[in-house]
Amino acid sequence: GLPARVRIHEVGARDGLQNEKETVPTEVKAEFIRRLAVAGLTTIEATSFVHPKWVPQLADAEALFPLLGDIADVGDVSLPVLVPNERGLDRALALGARSIAVFGSATETFASRNLNRTVDESLAMFAPVVARAKAEKVHVRGYLSMCFGDPWEGAVEIAQVVRVAKALMDLGCDELSLGDTIGVATPGHVTALLTALNDSAVPTSAIGVHFHDTYGQALSNTLAALQHGVTTVDASAGGLGGCPYAKSATGNLATEDLVWMLDGLGIETGVDLDALTATSAWLAGHLSRPSPSRTVRALTPP
Ligand code: HMG
Ligand code: MG
Repeated sequence: GLPARVRIHEVGARDGLQNEKETVPTEVKAEFIRRLAVAGLTTIEATSFVHPKWVPQLADAEALFPLLGDIADVGDVSLPVLVPNERGLDRALALGARSIAVFGSATETFASRNLNRTVDESLAMFAPVVARAKAEKVHVRGYLSMCFGDPWEGAVEIAQVVRVAKALMDLGCDELSLGDTIGVATPGHVTALLTALNDSAVPTSAIGVHFHDTYGQALSNTLAALQHGVTTVDASAGGLGGCPYAKSATGNLATEDLVWMLDGLGIETGVDLDALTATSAWLAGHLSRPSPSRTVRALTPP
């Protein structure tokens, strides 16, 4: 069966904007995030506290995060931020972040290109981050990239994914997001990975899915995950994004396309599709390019 309700983890302001050629002004990012909250999204990934040279598009994290204070008035909204190491955690905690995400890789090549570490070195880098965050009662998500395929290594073995997934959970992560960083997954592979994670005692209730839409499979993959009992789905408003350190990664599953499907299935999200679509169309104006989301294009008057 399908769940009655899905929590959308909105990543447009982070995964989306980190990969756009044009750097969006800080005030526009703040307005984007505020409008996403008004549209009913309750988990809105805001930015990353990474090295500014690695992701220049998000180098304004210190200026942006304080502008989001008033979003607390919109409702019960959490604003997770990416943190790779203790330096990033210090920066996030100094600004009052209450929800963070570390981001590991199932493959060595991506760990090296994205974090300048081996897989195990990156887990060692995350260990004190997760421990300190938990001690401060800060929510911790663990991302796991390249769960289905890797642009340099090709197909990724399920056993290899399960090993790193368990290691992230053992560090104390509250949730785990399975990343199809380059969008190569298909639904049978999704079901096989979720089954293997269940068999290894990673509970489905802790799992979110993070699909990129390179081959147009993101919605089908999401449906397979919902049928398996997953209730947390990552998506990016307007289908923004990609990943700067993974060649051939295109945008995430568009939040509008996801909401269109969930509305049709009678699955609650709390999201107002018209308000969300208007927000993505407005942001597309700032990026000087149309939204790649089919639903945004279908619902936006010419
Ligand atoms: P490194 O060069 O190994 O860093 O990079 P280091 O630890 O050797 O430190 C070097 C210098 O950087 C030091 O400064 C540090 O203080 C500074 P110095 O002492 O030389 O003056 N530094 C920092 N400065 C600010 N903030 C920090 C920070 N850390 C160190 N947090 C590092 C290692 C992890 C920092 C680097 O590789 C990095 O920033 N990587 C981030 C890459 C990234 O953000 N990628 C995109 C997100 S992942 C993704 O998109 C996938 C996902 O969507 C899921 C999916 O689709 O699969 C999540
Ligand atoms: Mg991603």
